[in-house]
Amino acid sequence: MVAQSQLNILVSHEEIAKAIARLASEIKRDYQGKQPLFIGVLKGSFVFLADLIRQLDLPVEIDFVKLSSYGAGRKTSGKVSMVQGLKAPVKGRDVLVIEDIVDTGITISFLLDYLRKKKPASLKLCALTDKPSRRKVPVSIDYLGFTVPDKFIVGYGLDFDEKFRHLPDICFLED
Ligand code: IMP
Ligand code: MG
Repeated sequence: MVAQSQLNILVSHEEIAKAIARLASEIKRDYQGKQPLFIGVLKGSFVFLADLIRQLDLPVEIDFVKLSSYGAGRKTSGKVSMVQGLKAPVKGRDVLVIEDIVDTGITISFLLDYLRKKKPASLKLCALTDKPSRRKVPVSIDYLGFTVPDKFIVGYGLDFDEKFRHLPDICFLED
């Protein structure tokens, strides 16, 4: 069990809002005149994606995939499978994948490899957070909110055993 008292704010909701404004202006500049397809990785990215698209003023289309790499708890199993696939065709589209956190990189590389095979016109990655200290597979992040230390984080969509997704700030759990 993790109690709310074991949570400390790592990134406040004010800092998150500023980062989203910055990311939105970068994305808007790069996708001007295009109709990008945003692919959110469920479930963690849903809060970030919802805030980001409302700052964009671009004719975006949204789809979701659900991947499973984590079982219950904090450790990755290292094996990724697609639990819920795409509905939108990807061929010829400008695809931007929206992820909550790149940790070992195993999950997102699996998805990017999968999407690349479907021949999008372009394929980029936008991540709210990056935990580079734990990387096992190299990943290049085109749009990044925050680099975070090697701590387990929750809030703003991120969970620990399905809890804490509703928190407005990004918090870390005391060991
Ligand atoms: P990766 O395959 O190790 O990069 O793991 C990526 C996925 O694991 C993310 O999409 C998250 O769902 C989950 N994850 C990794 N680190 C954390 C964390 O610190 N807090 C919450 N979820 C995490
Ligand atoms: Mg995720």
